Amino acid sequence: MSSSTEIRILTTPQELFEAAAEEVLRAAKEAIAQRGRFTIVLSGGSTPKSLFNLLATNARTVFPWDRTFFFWGDERHVPPTDPDSNYRMAEEAMLSKIPVPAGNVFRFAAENPDAAAVAEAYEQTLRKFFQVGPGQIPAFDLILLGMGPDGHTASLFPGSPGLQEKTRLVIANWVEKLKASRLTLTLPVLNAARCVAFLVSGTDKAPALHAVLESDVAGEQYPSKLIRPVDGKLIWLIDRAAASQLTDRNEKQSGPGHPKV
Ligand code: 6PG
Repeated sequence: MSSSTEIRILTTPQELFEAAAEEVLRAAKEAIAQRGRFTIVLSGGSTPKSLFNLLATNARTVFPWDRTFFFWGDERHVPPTDPDSNYRMAEEAMLSKIPVPAGNVFRFAAENPDAAAVAEAYEQTLRKFFQVGPGQIPAFDLILLGMGPDGHTASLFPGSPGLQEKTRLVIANWVEKLKASRLTLTLPVLNAARCVAFLVSGTDKAPALHAVLESDVAGEQYPSKLIRPVDGKLIWLIDRAAASQLTDRNEKQSGPGHPKV
């Protein structure tokens, strides 16, 4: 598969979440047809909660949950019961409502106070699941990502040391402005995906989205700009509010490589 970029601007958040649910279902069907299983990385924060609710209600009976394996793109360094936990949000919005086997869900053990150990343990979990050794990068079928108003994605924040990581799969990334460590997949893993789908909603994201999609700013300042699947699809699912500062608001599709669409 060559790499490609698609930008879809949806009128409302609800239409964005419906489009995202369709994309998840499409990716699942394709993955299971080709490889017998579907590996998906969930994003955190608040945006995906509506998608998770939609999948748990509308796709509950039609989705191949027993062949689906859940991972996280990042996690806060808190226990899974903490209100800030990305795992807790997904558990409440979706996982507790669908017949997915417990063994198909791989969360960060973020209750461990040693963040570096949490990252290392998750990396070993990925290496074991995908049967990849040192120097090899696993290819997830679908990685969902969000974008912060500062252009961060997963827990790769502007100017953070994690942006330079080229060999590890998972790191504890110190985020100065949060004065906290965050657990996150690294750019090599995110860019090894067969498909990456950004879900971006709301006017607060509009300036960063313009910078990421339409300017030449350095990726280190807007890390979402560094997401370019090497051999996969990149899909931007954006609502009109988030797209409000894009100079060109027509839907776009680009072919091989990831020229600026
Ligand atoms: C997190 C996320 C993060 C998120 C963006 C957008 O742990 O917070 O993984 O990268 O996707 O910050 O968050 P919202 O959807 O809440 O705007």
